[in-house]
Amino acid sequence: MARQNSLIITIDGPAGAGKSTVARRLAQKLRFHYLDTGALYRALTLKVLKKLKKNDLRTAELNNQWLIRLLNRTRLRFKNKNNQTRLMMDGRDVTQAIRQPVVTDNVYRLAETPRFRQAMARLQRRLGQAGPLVAEGRDLGTVVFPKADIKFYLDASLSERTRRRHKESRKDRNRVSRKKLAAEIKRRDRRDRTRKTAPLKMDKNALYIDTTRLAIDQVVTKLFDIIRIVSWLKFIPEKRK
Ligand code: DC
Repeated sequence: MARQNSLIITIDGPAGAGKSTVARRLAQKLRFHYLDTGALYRALTLKVLKKLKKNDLRTAELNNQWLIRLLNRTRLRFKNKNNQTRLMMDGRDVTQAIRQPVVTDNVYRLAETPRFRQAMARLQRRLGQAGPLVAEGRDLGTVVFPKADIKFYLDASLSERTRRRHKESRKDRNRVSRKKLAAEIKRRDRRDRTRKTAPLKMDKNALYIDTTRLAIDQVVTKLFDIIRIVSWLKFIPEKRK
């Protein structure tokens, strides 16, 4: 595993807990890099769907080696444009395309493929070497950056997560009913928590934050304050504590 020489903050948790917005805002506030690992899984899923000309990967044979070779030949990078984080894949902006329902429905197939996950973790560590980092996903504190300086686990009730996703779906063109969204989130939770490799779980050193009754700004402020206190404690010499 590569040596970690700058500050790393990880944020894990289930879909709709507020991870992406919070991690992005926190990274801006701290002037850290931001790594959205779900976006990487989504981008590769988009590429596989296109390559295989399929809408449903359940019926496709996914070969580990083929997937890893495809990943190794894919250029992925995040870029900042007008205060927004865009994901570029092979020179194309795929920020919108990776949010399509067909990608959301199929991403679990790649996410549950063990050796592909290991290759993804290596890529994430490489991308994380650029400097101080806020990284978010499902296994950042447990598997990808087990030595992260500060680990958070964000959570919220199912009904609140559904409400948030419903609001988002009204903003973009992927409008879905609340009932359908709740069922989809439940299904994704089950898949994330029960997969054999790197399932979603809270790291023993992570701080649990329930965001159900908090606005995004309040969550960002809360995490920011914790980071300030923890980093201050970390950097004072042992004998002065
Ligand atoms: O956070 P998201 O909804 O964009 O993530 C998309 C999918 O990728 C999600 O269903 C689970 C998977 N994922 C994962 O398995 N591990 C990660 N570190 C991040 C996402």
